[in-house]
Amino acid sequence: MTRLARPSRRVSLVGLLAAALLATPLIAMSTPAAAQPVAAPAPALIPKPTSQQALAGQDYSLKPWSVVGVDSSSKERRAAQKVADQLTSQLRRSTGYPLPVVPVVPGLTDIKLSTNGPTSLGAEGYQLRVDRKGVSVTAATPEGLFRGVTTLRQLLPAKADAGTRQAGPWNLAGTAIADSPRFGYRGTMLDVSRHFFSVAEVKRYIDLASLYKLNKFHMHLADDQGWRIQVDSWPRLTTYGGSLEVDGTPGGSYTKAEFAEIVRYAADRYLQVIPEIDTPGHTNAALASYAQLNCDGVAPPLYTGTEVGFSSLCVGKQVTYDFLGDVFREVAQQSPGDVIHLGGDEAHSTPHSDYLTFVPKAAAQVTKQHKRVMGWQEIAETPLPPGSIAQYWGTDDARSQELARKAAAQGAKVVLSPANRAYLDMKYDDSTPYGQDWAGLVSVQTGYDWNPSTLVPNLPEGAIAGVEAPIWTETLDNLDKLEYMAFPRLPGIAELGWSQASALDWTAYKDRLGAQGSRWDALSVNFYRAPEINWR
Ligand code: ACM
Repeated sequence: MTRLARPSRRVSLVGLLAAALLATPLIAMSTPAAAQPVAAPAPALIPKPTSQQALAGQDYSLKPWSVVGVDSSSKERRAAQKVADQLTSQLRRSTGYPLPVVPVVPGLTDIKLSTNGPTSLGAEGYQLRVDRKGVSVTAATPEGLFRGVTTLRQLLPAKADAGTRQAGPWNLAGTAIADSPRFGYRGTMLDVSRHFFSVAEVKRYIDLASLYKLNKFHMHLADDQGWRIQVDSWPRLTTYGGSLEVDGTPGGSYTKAEFAEIVRYAADRYLQVIPEIDTPGHTNAALASYAQLNCDGVAPPLYTGTEVGFSSLCVGKQVTYDFLGDVFREVAQQSPGDVIHLGGDEAHSTPHSDYLTFVPKAAAQVTKQHKRVMGWQEIAETPLPPGSIAQYWGTDDARSQELARKAAAQGAKVVLSPANRAYLDMKYDDSTPYGQDWAGLVSVQTGYDWNPSTLVPNLPEGAIAGVEAPIWTETLDNLDKLEYMAFPRLPGIAELGWSQASALDWTAYKDRLGAQGSRWDALSVNFYRAPEINWR
């Protein structure tokens, strides 16, 4: 289950290089198939790159003696080396080849990974070339290199992603790719409050998200059913408030060390963790843990149902803001990213005038920590600090669209998570065994077939930060169910965030999606084999 999560073993460079050189004549003689590339099938990439050209007759085959060369400035060497190590540790598992990583040596290093590309590629952009002589991935930053290596993994046969040794050959079709993202915010959200997910499970989800070039990992860390992140100044939030989950099964929470591990793991895959503490509603776990947070001074019992909108922090009490100051300080200390999400949705038990008072005061506790404020679309009803991000979760309804425009009119950015398209917990159809349907049924096509630029009428293009696919876990209590709901829809949202508008086409996408099936089989992903897709 956590096969992808296994850290790469330290391997002796000299040993690997010697093994590669020794392997040359022996393996060349004993496995002629590896030495004679056959034509590889046309690669079906998700997200579709900005430009991709086939190079006829330029197919390349990974060899037992292939050597990976890293070309990087001293400042970026460690990060570039890590990207190379991530690639080779996976490929060593599946190919059995030694694949040493060394500084670039012309003529020796047939796979070249460079961060010395032109800055015109942007931070996440890259160029990738496969020809008869080898493979090169060129970027201006280690992050761009990581995105390019992600593409390289998809160019390889699906079995390259397997956790055990597979038979070659390892052919790549000749190609020249130049690629960079359409939007800077391409995210997914995991609700770990309704059901708790272990560090290993979270890592697995991060691994799968990173395969599609997502760069934001939003964690919904506190809701009515459980508080999941350690706060030393308010310890009962986790010891009591995190003890259960939906249906009353044992919950859990992340210690500071565990959360740091998640943040580091995500950062190694170039995903920024965006921690969310939902306020002023969705707060029963906190209210149950501390009586003084309640207006009447009485702590409610823990809640393990799935209703929403019944809890509220006490807007008139100073202790509420002392609490938020402590919480956001400790959360900020645990998350190096520049954004904290304060929730703000469905505050149905907070009088409206109180809501208007509360959000700016909560936002001030976030900006005090030098973080940007993010919140669900409802926060647009209040004045927002500069740099804020509002998250649209509407269903084409006029009120949600108005809130998105209100956010933009204040200078805030908008992240698009339309519930009737991007919510991964919505059922695919009536027969989906779990998930919800309050926003409608979301088929694979419905999830993909929309344009972020035109979703909300009159929302200026410049206000759109990008897209995010949330997965809420009221009905999802294990990783198998998460994977079933996220795949195959998550790659569709990833493509909407990365690929140019002109590249978005359901028929063509559907065909590329079908080719991911064998990859998910290699990775043991429990994906939904939507019957309208030709899986192969
Ligand atoms: C939400 O779905 N309440 C953001």
